[in-house]
Amino acid sequence: MPTPAVAAPAAGTDVIHTRRGDEVRLRFVTPADGEVLQAYIRSLSPRSRHRRFLGALSELPKAVLDDFVALGRNDRYSLVGMMDRDGVADIVAEARYALDRATGRVEFGLSVHDRWHGHGIGPALIADLERRARALGGLTLSGDALRTNDVMIALARKAGFTIQPHADDWTLVRFEKDLRAHQVQRVSQHDELTAAI
Ligand SMILES: CC(C)(COP(=O)(O)OP(=O)(O)OC[C@H]1O[C@@H](n2cnc3c(N)ncnc32)[C@H](O)[C@@H]1OP(=O)(O)O)[C@@H](O)C(=O)NCCC(=O)NCCS
Repeated sequence: MPTPAVAAPAAGTDVIHTRRGDEVRLRFVTPADGEVLQAYIRSLSPRSRHRRFLGALSELPKAVLDDFVALGRNDRYSLVGMMDRDGVADIVAEARYALDRATGRVEFGLSVHDRWHGHGIGPALIADLERRARALGGLTLSGDALRTNDVMIALARKAGFTIQPHADDWTLVRFEKDLRAHQVQRVSQHDELTAAI
């Protein structure tokens, strides 16, 4: 049975940074964000929208938009990355992630506005999503990308994801990271460091 949307928790806001140090405030969406989120999606280049949603669309269908802003419904969560410019907060990125409780798999998709590509927001957002996935009790973090999406594939590889052809769709690749393996690795690195000190 679908789980209902939960009220936006006050917690859940993080600050990430572009490579040159600009702040991007990452927060959960609220139902009041519907219009600005849709405006953000419309303002992406057709190529970025296609890469993000794995198909051609000019905006989010209403039902999808409603789902995007219903935080926590069916263990799905949406984030927006806000940046202040001249006293106005603009959406510069968004991400959506979902926990499958049966498998412990957390799936995500994300976009950074074309104007901000190449500034390090994508890598910082993925690091944040990894932290959120662990906090949810996720065992793996994964997603799909068009196999022509060289930037996402390079970014995922650099972030420690394995890239595999998609089992059901030859136009896609699947990137996946085992969060347990990396936790063990981090602990053992920490132990080594402690031992070295
Ligand atoms: C994919 C996306 C999120 C990347 O975000 P971004 O903030 O522009 O990412 P950046 O360019 O700052 O960083 C990408 C990394 O990949 C590297 N990279 C980019 N293109 C590369 C290429 N062709 N070959 C090798 N490395 C490449 C960059 O050098 C960078 O690595 P670094 O951090 O070690 O320098 C952004 O391009 C986007 O929103 N695309 C449209 C939507 C999309 O593709 N979503 C993914 C599918 S869900």
